[in-house]
Amino acid sequence: METGNHISKNETKRQFEYIEKAKKYVEALAIELGRKPTFCVTTFGCQMNARDSEKLAGILEKIGYEETESEDADFVIYNTCTVRDNANQKVYGRLGALSTKKKKNPHMRIALCGCMMQEPSVIEKIQKSYRFVDLIFGTHNIFKFAELVVTMFESKKRMIVDIWQDTNQIVEDLPIERKYKFKSGTNIMFGCNNFCSYCIVPYVRGRERSRQPKDIIREIENLVADGVVEIMLLGQNVNSYGKNLEDAMSFPELLQEVEKIEGLKRIRFMTSHPKDLSDELIEVMKKSKKICRHIHLPLQSGSTKILKEMNRRYTKEQYLEVVDKIRTAMPDVSITTDLIIGFPGETDEDIDETIDVIKKAQFDNAFTFIYSKRTGTPAAAMENQVSEEQVKLSFNRVLETVHEMTAQQAKRLVGETVEVLVEEQNEHDSSLVTGKLSNNTIVHFAGTEALIGSIVSVKIMECKGFYYFGQMEG
Ligand code: SAH
Ligand code: SF4
Ligand code: F3S
Repeated sequence: METGNHISKNETKRQFEYIEKAKKYVEALAIELGRKPTFCVTTFGCQMNARDSEKLAGILEKIGYEETESEDADFVIYNTCTVRDNANQKVYGRLGALSTKKKKNPHMRIALCGCMMQEPSVIEKIQKSYRFVDLIFGTHNIFKFAELVVTMFESKKRMIVDIWQDTNQIVEDLPIERKYKFKSGTNIMFGCNNFCSYCIVPYVRGRERSRQPKDIIREIENLVADGVVEIMLLGQNVNSYGKNLEDAMSFPELLQEVEKIEGLKRIRFMTSHPKDLSDELIEVMKKSKKICRHIHLPLQSGSTKILKEMNRRYTKEQYLEVVDKIRTAMPDVSITTDLIIGFPGETDEDIDETIDVIKKAQFDNAFTFIYSKRTGTPAAAMENQVSEEQVKLSFNRVLETVHEMTAQQAKRLVGETVEVLVEEQNEHDSSLVTGKLSNNTIVHFAGTEALIGSIVSVKIMECKGFYYFGQMEG
């Protein structure tokens, strides 16, 4: 394993040289195939991974591959997630199917990258049981993808593995191919320092690093010039943005800078850790014309005892106090959350506490996960793991409350006229388009493809639980 501390200042330039080199190999392949070779990037996991996949796609397009949705492509890349074990199982399952495809297409190449690859046990398993994989790299060296592709073309080795343990650098200005023309994510920071006791992210994404404000602003300005109207600022804990920069800048300060960008209409951010959400952030949001009325504020558990064991560093009361401040300042805000059910030692009484918070906080939506034991995390070594049976019972109880609460919350907007960013044509009915409210809920209404990317006024007519039907106005 390399440590990655030796990234040179000229890394971007170096990678562009590899892009030129890779182009030649792809051209040769195109001649052999009699057509442009194709690629397919499959993303597992969170928005950070989705953004990383856009970086992979940017490089592949630049070197001459053509994107396709199908995994029958000449180059298939899995950008993996390991936050819960089912994410890993999905990858292994789909690799089996890929092996069959590869047998039929001798030109096919397969690469694996992302969080799962940062775990030595995963690499061992792939080296042993999935010998047909051509290239493996991790989260810290994704910037050298062009270089790795060149190595893949040049090397005689069956499988190239390049994993770094960590990095303290950020490589800027590499090509990116966006999935949506009108909206984009942008990383404001990488990694995480929180070490919640159940979570593997700090181990696979490394220590927290913030990008320079000027790099973020320049990137967003360029995105806006290219048609982006909505930006999502991404980080595992955006509220601690800027703490490790030489000229410290807080997250609310960054938001104010982003707000100034002309032509940008909407700003979103993810994820907020409750322990770091400041009054200043609430103030800035309240005054802002661009920041969307949505905060994703993972609770994980409503029991102060469990929260302590989770190393979340807030109590039930402190969480509710933050929610109260947010709702008082912005009554139209939507608050969504993540919950983990079945953390070691969790009892019926702890679940009662979680249910109590769900009711009091009146969440607009909640993602409920069954606790998954992640090797190497402190929680995995805890002795009082909860039985599957108990978890199922608790899970159903929590889910029932979540459904009640979210249905009640969603009804609030019926009859109101709201601004909607039109995102796509409706999958099932092409006379409809689908858009997003500022508060992140979805609305379907009559409209044409020409509306995609614009912000329109829509009257909310009917609530279907998690989404609405509406009517465009004026
Ligand atoms: N940085 C974000 C969360 C990133 S992971 C935060 O702290 O809020 C996304 C979600 O996955 C978490 O909020 C948590 O609910 C869930 N999660 C993380 N580790 C998990 C595990 N071991 N088992 C089950 N769910 C987990
Ligand atoms: Fe994981 Fe906690 Fe970091 Fe979120 S804040 S990524 S849950 S360690
Ligand atoms: Fe998964 Fe990595 Fe994101 S583990 S949730 S893809 S940071």
